[in-house]
Amino acid sequence: MADLDPTYIQAPEHRSDANVTPNQPEEIPVIDLSRIEDPKDVQNVISEIGEACKTWGFFQVINHGVPCEARTRVEKTVKTFFDLPVEEKLKVKKDEVNPVGYHDGEHTKNVKDWKEVFDVYFKDHMVIPSSTDPEDQGLRVVHNKWPQFPSDFREACEEYARHAEKLALKLVELISLSLGLPKERFHDDFKEQMSFCRINRYPPCPRPDLALGVGHHKDADVLTILAQDEVGGLQVSRRSDGVWFPIKPVPNAFVINIGNCMEVWTNDKYWSAEHRVVVNSTRERYSIPFFLLPSHDVEVKPLEELVSPENPPRYKGYKWGKFYVTRNRSDFQKLEVENIQIDQLKVVT
Ligand code: OGA
Ligand code: NI
Repeated sequence: MADLDPTYIQAPEHRSDANVTPNQPEEIPVIDLSRIEDPKDVQNVISEIGEACKTWGFFQVINHGVPCEARTRVEKTVKTFFDLPVEEKLKVKKDEVNPVGYHDGEHTKNVKDWKEVFDVYFKDHMVIPSSTDPEDQGLRVVHNKWPQFPSDFREACEEYARHAEKLALKLVELISLSLGLPKERFHDDFKEQMSFCRINRYPPCPRPDLALGVGHHKDADVLTILAQDEVGGLQVSRRSDGVWFPIKPVPNAFVINIGNCMEVWTNDKYWSAEHRVVVNSTRERYSIPFFLLPSHDVEVKPLEELVSPENPPRYKGYKWGKFYVTRNRSDFQKLEVENIQIDQLKVVT
């Protein structure tokens, strides 16, 4: 059996066979978004979205308005890039000044992921806090890195990200309505959004029993719009019992998942689910998540409209930008301590 670099080895309880999926997997909902055009059906769609956010924190959408061509184009051009020799890819390597571009092997919870990544900010330039120090008000501007080849890489990514952002903001409106709030409730949170698009390539892995493409984690964002190819491997942990379920690839669909910000805003009504990516020994897999992030100065805390004496706030508020830069310290290296997680901000009752 082939050897695996020990930095990739997951603890036994986190490996892909731990907590195995049942024989008859319960499907996460697939919602047809074209139904929102029908005045008689729109309310049903909103309720279905609300229910999915509560029970799974995951759903898929079809007929979502993102043109097929924009997705196919970006999928094609990123493959050309990832097939380049590693020296070429390292020319646009992620660094500590501009933490975007190419990167091979992020750490999730201090174990290395079996993947290669390319990150692109949605806004170029983007403003983020200059340090993790809570007292330091300093900001800095960060920029994207673009490879010279393939020549349409930048345009394809930018075009795709524009469509993904539009869909993300539409879904935020529908989620807002599902909470009984005005659809514009969250608009101001995205004025200087820190959203980014990520391209994940998961190469075939000699020991898929020991490594994961992405270790179990919750997304820190508001919500994620994920395009996955036909290979499969994404799994979600069910809210009610933690059992892992596969998220089956549906052609041209997007997988939507709730992130920590929405979970905190809704005071745990909506669920940011643990998920992970299982790899395999024969086929490479691509996925393209768009992470919708608020502006750096947004204070993320349970919404006043959703708390009451019977349902007091379950989280302390936090400044989004500070949380983000603090959490990302651990992407580059293995830390001695676990990186910051949302549960550390829970109010102890
Ligand atoms: C992530 C993630 C899932 C996938 O990048 O945060 O969960 O299917 N990716 O690639
Ligand atoms: Ni994720």
